[in-house]
Amino acid sequence: MKTMHYAGIAVIAACFAGTAAAQEVVPLPAPKIRGQVMKTLKNRISVKGFSAKELSDRNLGEVLWAGFGIADPVSGRRTAPAAFGSNEIDIYVLSADGVFLYDPAAHGIRRVGSEDVRGIVASQGYVKSAPVHLIYVADYDRAAKVYPSSYDDQMKSWAMMHTGFIAQNVVLYSSSHGMSAVVRSPGNVERLRAALKLPDNCEVVMSQAVGYVPEGWR
Ligand SMILES: Cc1cc2nc3c(=O)[nH]c(=O)nc-3n(C[C@H](O)[C@H](O)[C@H](O)COP(=O)(O)O)c2cc1C
Repeated sequence: MKTMHYAGIAVIAACFAGTAAAQEVVPLPAPKIRGQVMKTLKNRISVKGFSAKELSDRNLGEVLWAGFGIADPVSGRRTAPAAFGSNEIDIYVLSADGVFLYDPAAHGIRRVGSEDVRGIVASQGYVKSAPVHLIYVADYDRAAKVYPSSYDDQMKSWAMMHTGFIAQNVVLYSSSHGMSAVVRSPGNVERLRAALKLPDNCEVVMSQAVGYVPEGWR
């Protein structure tokens, strides 16, 4: 109860921040950086640089599993949550070898195209060497199957939230495996739609460049 009480004060303080009504700070114990999760959070950073080294199949598979794989094959529970279990986010992989779609049930990737279309999203100089770009795509038909109709106007914002959870999983995996993962604007969405062969019920939400941290970084 004590913790909840303090948490309540923190929320009030945040809402009134910058005004005369702001409450006094109640200090909390400094975080103890122990255990892998806390260490990873401490070191998390968007490394704005990539080695040109190709991503190994192991790292690609683990990135995708960490992002939105199936954690429990019995219940189908995923590594990231989704409202009503909609699981409407698909992950496409753009690599030098073409375009692929992650199939979490098979834990594999299915080829969608043979062209290297990374240039569509690699607008900034530092991502031009990234071996892989993940493209997060919302399938609104899949969401509509499980959302009550009263949630129709929230479908887009929830797809963004779901993408945030997945992308952060990718960031945390990458941070703890000598890799860089930077969420980025997807750029020219119409060109991406064509490259990914997306039907009308699907929409590109976000992109994320993934690869190895360049030698000598820092
Ligand atoms: C929603 C979102 C969109 C972003 N878009 C871009 C982008 O288009 N290009 C880019 O270089 N970084 C982008 N970033 C990464 C931020 O620039 C980065 O997180 C910020 O510099 C803070 O650095 P840090 O993650 O190392 O703390 C984006 C981050 C978020 C959360």
